[in-house]
Amino acid sequence: MNMHSSTAATAEEAIAAQEALPPLTNEEATQVAMSNTLLTPRFYTTDFDEMDAIDVSSVREEWDVLIGQMKADPNKGHFKKNEDWDDVDWDGMEPALKAEFIDFLISSCTAEFSGCVLYKEMKRRGSNKDITELFQLMARDEARHAGFINDALREAGIAVNLGFLTQAKKYTYFRPKFIYYATYLSEKIGYARYITIFRHLEENPEMRFHPIFKWFREWCNDEFSHGEAFALLLKTDPKLTESRMNKMWIKFFLTAVFSTMWVRDHQRPEFHKALGVDPKWYGQEVFRKTSEITKQVFPMTLDIDHPRWVPTLNRMEAANVQIAAGRKQGGVSGWVKRMAGSAKAGFAFVSLLTIPVEKNAVPASPRLEPAY
Ligand SMILES: [Fe+2]
Ligand SMILES: [Fe+2]
Repeated sequence: MNMHSSTAATAEEAIAAQEALPPLTNEEATQVAMSNTLLTPRFYTTDFDEMDAIDVSSVREEWDVLIGQMKADPNKGHFKKNEDWDDVDWDGMEPALKAEFIDFLISSCTAEFSGCVLYKEMKRRGSNKDITELFQLMARDEARHAGFINDALREAGIAVNLGFLTQAKKYTYFRPKFIYYATYLSEKIGYARYITIFRHLEENPEMRFHPIFKWFREWCNDEFSHGEAFALLLKTDPKLTESRMNKMWIKFFLTAVFSTMWVRDHQRPEFHKALGVDPKWYGQEVFRKTSEITKQVFPMTLDIDHPRWVPTLNRMEAANVQIAAGRKQGGVSGWVKRMAGSAKAGFAFVSLLTIPVEKNAVPASPRLEPAY
């Protein structure tokens, strides 16, 4: 019997298991996954030698506990359809919802896989045992996550070609410290997003229009541990969170990650309506949880209750609608519309950066357990 991606011990095995499934000639999904805009998940590359040189001895005790938990692999075999997987009536799904949901799945699959390729590459290039071991474990998890989403897409006759994506998608270079900030945040916000939906559907099971949401609790626990690993990595070099300049970078990344999520989620009104989730409530709830968690290592959080916060996010979202309309329209007038939209989005972003942060003390030990 062929292995399934959910039981793979390495990312390479999980990808191979996905590739071995009957091919689907769905270039469209792969094309969507290939696109690189400010709002679509990107693939990253970095200075792997610099990352390989990290010395984790200052956080050794916590490090070994975390790695031990990840090696114990509590979620092995979890990311696979079983008797809890209800039949999905893709043909009966309202077309607008179906389109948005498929877009959500493709984008989630790409984001999961983006983590996988970065972590897998770090594992391949590195020689530092601590670092390669961690990245191998995280790559394994992300490959399983991406594989599982692809299994869900397959039922709709679609799949993202993961092998092709690895080869053909453009990679964006980020220096290691930016990878730490961006990846730490995306793991923690990923946790907050998955658990918020999971808890909401626990209370409102009639809104669960697809079985994949039942898998979100274990899923978000994987993301939580990945975030913990990055919190420890950030701790190995206090300058990363304490220097004046880096505090500015942290604010920049918090603002970029939060505002991107806001704009992206507001593009899927039907999806959120079907879940019974107000995107504004959801956004603020996820930001609140993420902020609470990031106090483990970041010395400040964004003031998401500031009177300018939500209105400015809304302006950014409106600017984005304008950019999309310009792109669709094409020609000179479309270009003008797009440029005007980009300028508005840029001003809105700068305006968000001028909102003062809320400072907090950072504990000596960052370790947390998932609590939501
Ligand atoms: Fe993941
Ligand atoms: Fe992750």
